[in-house]
Amino acid sequence: MKKLVFLVVLAACGDPPKLAVSKLQDPMTCLECHPTHHAQWSASMHAYSTDDPVFVAMEKRGQRDTNGALGTFCIQCHAPMALANGTITPDNVKDFDLSTLSASEKGVTCYFCHNVDSIKDDHNNGLVLALDQTMRGGAKNPVSSPAHNSKYDPMMASATNNSQMCGSCHDVVTPRGVAVERTYTEWKGTIFAHDDPANLLPLTCSGCHMQSKDDVIADKPGLNVPERKHGFHEHLWPAIDEALTAFPGGDTLAAGIKRDLDPAITIVGPTPTGGTAADAPGGICVTPQGGGQITVRIDSRGTGHMWPSGAAQDRRAWLEVIAYDASNNVVFQSGIVPDNKDPEEINDPNLVAIWDFVTKDDGTEAHFFWDIAHEDPSHLVKPPVTLVQTDPAFDHSKPTTFNVPNATATIDHITARVRIRPLSLRMLDELVSGGDLDAAVAAQLKTLDISGTQRTWKKSTARSSDGCNPDQYN
Ligand code: HEC
Ligand code: HEC
Ligand code: HEC
Ligand code: HEC
Ligand code: HEC
Repeated sequence: MKKLVFLVVLAACGDPPKLAVSKLQDPMTCLECHPTHHAQWSASMHAYSTDDPVFVAMEKRGQRDTNGALGTFCIQCHAPMALANGTITPDNVKDFDLSTLSASEKGVTCYFCHNVDSIKDDHNNGLVLALDQTMRGGAKNPVSSPAHNSKYDPMMASATNNSQMCGSCHDVVTPRGVAVERTYTEWKGTIFAHDDPANLLPLTCSGCHMQSKDDVIADKPGLNVPERKHGFHEHLWPAIDEALTAFPGGDTLAAGIKRDLDPAITIVGPTPTGGTAADAPGGICVTPQGGGQITVRIDSRGTGHMWPSGAAQDRRAWLEVIAYDASNNVVFQSGIVPDNKDPEEINDPNLVAIWDFVTKDDGTEAHFFWDIAHEDPSHLVKPPVTLVQTDPAFDHSKPTTFNVPNATATIDHITARVRIRPLSLRMLDELVSGGDLDAAVAAQLKTLDISGTQRTWKKSTARSSDGCNPDQYN
């Protein structure tokens, strides 16, 4: 009780003045006391979102193609502080040179996320800032900071099962009304979003994308701060995209992507009823049905939305499968994509394409989101949406059956893997030929091989339990 009175008196006397809002908007200000948060954020796509040369090129192209009708649509998420401060406006956006923005207004900054006061919409960045000196976070009872006021806000805490803070930017509805990126909407349909007591897995965006550990959350000699249990949340947000130009922390981000992506997508059979994932067959099987068939079953393990999600119209992910006879001759193959071609360019009738198919009004393929009239997400790998095993939606796998005459007699071994490129090469080519993107930058794009999907099936070691039960795969 005495302590409480003491605190009240202190507050009444007034804390020393905090840093000015303009100072708090500069991420460098946070470095002094939050060095680890700063280092991780600096390597993240949130820090890169305004510098990203593909973004810059696409935005320019969009302004030209729509004769400025695009307005501040892209800026609202990729440089939200520039819009909040009025540096970029609907009037000057068309020819605005994004490279002239200061560090305070480039990227999704510390201040932007930590100053959200309310949420007015669940898509197209409906986050409303207070533009004050208070940093909101998920840490309860924050120690007084000399730099800013602090506030625990349940909306920020991954422990609250509400993903709207992230979701509002991770759901894009285009100016013509196409819900082209839907990570938040997808998440809302998963088992992770439900507060059902039978569901032990409430997990928000940050619950999965900002792993916690026991640590201090402010780290500067002289700050009297406690170590907090699960207090520190990773600020790297690795997923798929990497910087295509020199940017700090590239190796850290690449390692983070490998850590999170490798186990997330697998080639694996269904877990037997009552068994564990370890009892699941390998996800590839060969049967005599229909004259001979290979089935490959792709599944997600731990994605909280479709895979790929978000910019799934620009991603190019596909299955590569090669079947050999006993003399190592190839008897069947699909998804052999050279480094300089998009998977849809190789004329493979069996291609297992894993991205959002988007088309223009005339039905031809769209490369840019302002052109998109229709989109078809049916090729994506689904997340878990129910824990009820008898529900047909329980199995969220993506199985594919290939017809291979005499498969059981001829095939000796099969290799398979899923590969992904963050962006379509033809989309990049279009930006290069339009003069908005440097070809040398586009050439930096990598193809990622997901090790969790690398499988070899061998006739000699195939188990009878691996036998395809078409009911399980369809
Ligand atoms: C002079 C040191 C200092 C600077 C500079 C500083 N902070 Fe802090 N910050 C602290 C301290 C101390 C705490 C409280 C730590 C605790 O309670 O464990 C804190 C807590 C926080 C919290 C947690 C609030 C909560 O309750 O969840 C956030 C978020 C935060 N700071 C963001 C920032 C951002 C963003 C910047 C840069 C604009 C920044 N800080 C600059 C010292 C600082
Ligand atoms: C994309 C939004 C976003 C950005 C950008 C961001 N943060 Fe955070 N930060 C969060 C969220 C969400 C939490 C709360 C996590 C929780 O409690 O589950 C958080 C938590 C924190 C905390 C409290 C301790 C912790 O780890 O939970 C500090 C301090 C902090 N951030 C500092 C920073 C600094 C400094 C920067 C920039 C260098 C930054 N943040 C950039 C979203 C963001
Ligand atoms: C102001 C809008 C905004 C908010 C709020 C926001 N993001 Fe993002 N996020 C972006 C943008 C824009 C990018 C892409 C930047 C780029 O690649 O150019 C991105 C990228 C990412 C990526 C990397 C995607 C990839 O493919 O590599 C992840 C993961 C991510 N965000 C998660 C989160 C989480 C978790 C939160 C909430 C704590 C959050 N974001 C809040 C706008 C936002
Ligand atoms: C249950 C865990 C989980 C939850 C909940 C979750 N994600 Fe993910 N997310 C993943 C995994 C696993 C991946 C794939 C790993 C990778 O891409 O490196 C992923 C990938 C992503 C990507 C890259 C997708 C792409 O193809 O471009 C983004 C962006 C993203 N998540 C954002 C979010 C946002 C925003 C939310 C909340 C609305 C969210 N995630 C909720 C686990 C989760
Ligand atoms: C509602 C917020 C929002 C708006 C509006 C938005 N973006 Fe993004 N953008 C994101 C998020 C979130 C990601 C990361 C998505 C992911 O990794 O799945 C992203 C990723 C990107 C990327 C990197 C991956 C890719 O798809 O190539 C580019 C480039 C990009 N956006 C360009 C644009 C352009 C150009 C516009 C305007 C026509 C725009 N964005 C409008 C939120 C937004």
